[in-house]
Amino acid sequence: MSRKKILAGNWKMNLTIEEARNWIRRYQSVQKKGYLMDVILFPSFTALYPLSKEAFKAGITLGAQNIFEEENGAYTGEVSGKMLVDAGAKWVLVGHSERRTIFGETDDRINLKVRQALFSELRVILCVGETMEQRKAAEHQEVVSQQVINGLKEVHQSDLPHVVIAYEPVWAIGTGQTATPEDAQEMHAWIRSCLKDEKGETVADKMRIIYGGSVNSENATQLFACPDIDGGLVGGASLKPDSFLSILRSI
Ligand code: 13P
Repeated sequence: MSRKKILAGNWKMNLTIEEARNWIRRYQSVQKKGYLMDVILFPSFTALYPLSKEAFKAGITLGAQNIFEEENGAYTGEVSGKMLVDAGAKWVLVGHSERRTIFGETDDRINLKVRQALFSELRVILCVGETMEQRKAAEHQEVVSQQVINGLKEVHQSDLPHVVIAYEPVWAIGTGQTATPEDAQEMHAWIRSCLKDEKGETVADKMRIIYGGSVNSENATQLFACPDIDGGLVGGASLKPDSFLSILRSI
């Protein structure tokens, strides 16, 4: 089954509007032609709308780094799916390990966010991944399968093709310690087999599973050549357009 590859950049809490604009300009000046893959950037909320036109011209789709699980109301400081769509987002990241650990997001809350995002007609990148302790205790497969199954609870079958799973081992995020292509492929195949058991073979074959955690231009080629790795979610190396572009070229 051939699945369209994804290269996504998660800028986290970095880049002002002006810096983000310069990023897109630089990208566009180098990257004249489109690639046969989905290129998605996740800037800060505040940069979404100001970037929307230029990103579109550059062939880049925008996404938000978070969403609130309710449609609207008295939730000071939160942002709804409708607001994200209004600001130009097509995608949203849900369940990133920084949201799970720093902000205490549970699988139940993550599931509500996934469903709210789909209800708002946003596509979702659902992030999952184990800690080093869990891997050492040989719990990584169980932990990740629970995160996938709980995150997708009650998601309608017809919405599943709008969901991408990002396997991001916590120990690989921002550490320079990437999973080997063999370990990453093993986990991606495991996730696909869990999807198959839970949701059926047809949809499991269609769903894209991308890898994140210290991806750079040196390790991208080997990682993204693995049969179940459908692209990458890049943090640190996405902050500079040139390093992001060199990953793009190496896929
Ligand atoms: P790094 O690429 O900096 O390891 O971050 C990965 C990540 O968290 C992407 O969401």
